[in-house]
Amino acid sequence: MLVNKKYIQRHKKGFIWFHWINAVCFFMLFLTALPLYSDWFRPLYDTLGARNLQYAHRFFAVIFIANPIIGLLFTAREGILRLIREVFRFGRDDIVFNQKFPAELIGREPEGIPPQTFYNGGEKMNIALQAVFWFLLVVSGLILWFGEGHISPAVRTWMIPLHSLCAGIGFAAAIGHIYLALGVNPDSLHGMLDGTVKAGYAAKHHGKWVEELIEEGKVTREEIQRASQE
Ligand code: HEM
Repeated sequence: MLVNKKYIQRHKKGFIWFHWINAVCFFMLFLTALPLYSDWFRPLYDTLGARNLQYAHRFFAVIFIANPIIGLLFTAREGILRLIREVFRFGRDDIVFNQKFPAELIGREPEGIPPQTFYNGGEKMNIALQAVFWFLLVVSGLILWFGEGHISPAVRTWMIPLHSLCAGIGFAAAIGHIYLALGVNPDSLHGMLDGTVKAGYAAKHHGKWVEELIEEGKVTREEIQRASQE
């Protein structure tokens, strides 16, 4: 059944919390580390204090680590496990999506994109990238934080460029992700705010998922068609 005859239920409340807590932590971790990389960000140290920024970095690191673990407890099946499951459903249609989709970035309407599952081919790559970098950031960060006296200095030294590289690439990917969400597909944002997306948007961008919902009896084809015409 559609919500208000127009919207399809997409994300669970717990998963929405997980997403936004992850986003805030990610940017706060980035911000609190910036003065380590360039004097341009020195005013952050001068105004907030170097020690305070270091404590803040560790505070957000703890939440960044705990968040997916708590998320798994609260939104496993229709949240984080679905993220993982979708990455392993990467197939031919996702490759075609990634070949055709870039045209949308320059305002064109690409033709011949096959119907996509819950997450499209590009989102699946974003999930895989953020998951791998989350793991590498956490491992390298923990070694830098607690490794002294337990892990060899040579290994610890390598953790600094690894940590920085993951933060840099993860940040670039996050900026691209935000541009796609806000600039290219603003209808998707509704799903990350109240959990529902327009039926027309869902049918156009996630056709296979909508077919699954129809097969499961959660919505009817007529409901989708009626809502898409409005
Ligand atoms: C202002 C910041 C952000 C906005 C507006 C935003 C928006 C969104 C939206 C609308 C979705 C749902 C897409 C869908 O239903 O298909 C989503 C999903 C997701 N977001 Fe964000 N997001 C932001 C920040 C971040 C950050 C910082 C990260 C990671 C570091 C992140 C990682 C993800 C992942 C992995 C997904 C699931 C797959 C995907 O859509 O790529 N997001 N985000």
